[in-house]
Amino acid sequence: MSETEPIIQVSGLSKRFGSVTAVQPLDLSVTRHTSLGIVGESGSGKTTLANMMIGRVRPSKGSITVNGNDRSRPANTAVERRRRAKELQMVFQDPYSSLNPRYTAEQSILEVLKLHHPELGSHGCTARLAELCDLVGLDTRQRTSQPFSLSGGQRQRIVIARALAATPEVLILDEAVAALDVSIQAQIINLLLDIRSEFGTTYVLISHDLAVVRQLTEEVVVMRRGQVVERGRTSLVLSDPQHQYTQQLKESIPRPGWKPVHRDDIPEPSAPTQLA
Ligand SMILES: Nc1ncnc2c1ncn2[C@@H]1O[C@H](COP(=O)(O)OP(=O)(O)OP(=O)(O)O)[C@@H](O)[C@H]1O
Ligand SMILES: [Mg+2]
Repeated sequence: MSETEPIIQVSGLSKRFGSVTAVQPLDLSVTRHTSLGIVGESGSGKTTLANMMIGRVRPSKGSITVNGNDRSRPANTAVERRRRAKELQMVFQDPYSSLNPRYTAEQSILEVLKLHHPELGSHGCTARLAELCDLVGLDTRQRTSQPFSLSGGQRQRIVIARALAATPEVLILDEAVAALDVSIQAQIINLLLDIRSEFGTTYVLISHDLAVVRQLTEEVVVMRRGQVVERGRTSLVLSDPQHQYTQQLKESIPRPGWKPVHRDDIPEPSAPTQLA
């Protein structure tokens, strides 16, 4: 596989769920060692597209290749599943769904390290585990806690550490930083940028947050109702969107200096009602 070939190639890919067309036939390629952003309104088919890339959802039509290998059909063997997992990992929108409720944060991350990096041995895995926990900012209590006793943002950090533990070639992040507060979000974005320069990881970043997309991606596709309505260099698309929908998406983000419009038809709040 040549370095210049796209790492992911999607052709004529579509998905119907009964009468709902979640993804209309679309073509897409992801350049190796770069990051692609996927933006679009809720329900536009972003997660379905990512789920087809990872193999969680079977396409209705079309094909997906990663490193030239077909992914449209499920993997039949454990070896094939492991090979695919090393190629591509996904951080899901809902972190609960990808964590074993009985495992502590450390056990969850260790499981992936042992599976994908047996060469590290027991000491090497423990050292790498501590490194990953430090990187995503999990403290001593959180490392030994089960998911139910952690916050959404803390769970999200376990899932990110877990995905990074496999050192995949491609990492798909589905709203992975949306639930995090701004300081942790900035930390995770910097971490992702560092990982990319160290390992050459390719990212597919699904996000409602255009500021995050601007920081992390070189190219972006804009989806609406299961279709790609605009694509191009992130800096160009976000600074000078061509499609009306992308313009609306950009306009809908409050910017510095943004002031709420005063509306006369909204009554002034009255004094708080005293409870008896
Ligand atoms: N398993 C399913 N069965 C039936 N319909 C589904 C299923 N999964 C997704 N859909 C529908 O497909 C469409 C696309 O959903 P999808 O989750 O891909 O959107 P999304 O762009 O990720 O939205 P969000 O930004 O809210 O996460 C929606 O109309 C959704 O209701
Ligand atoms: Mg989604």
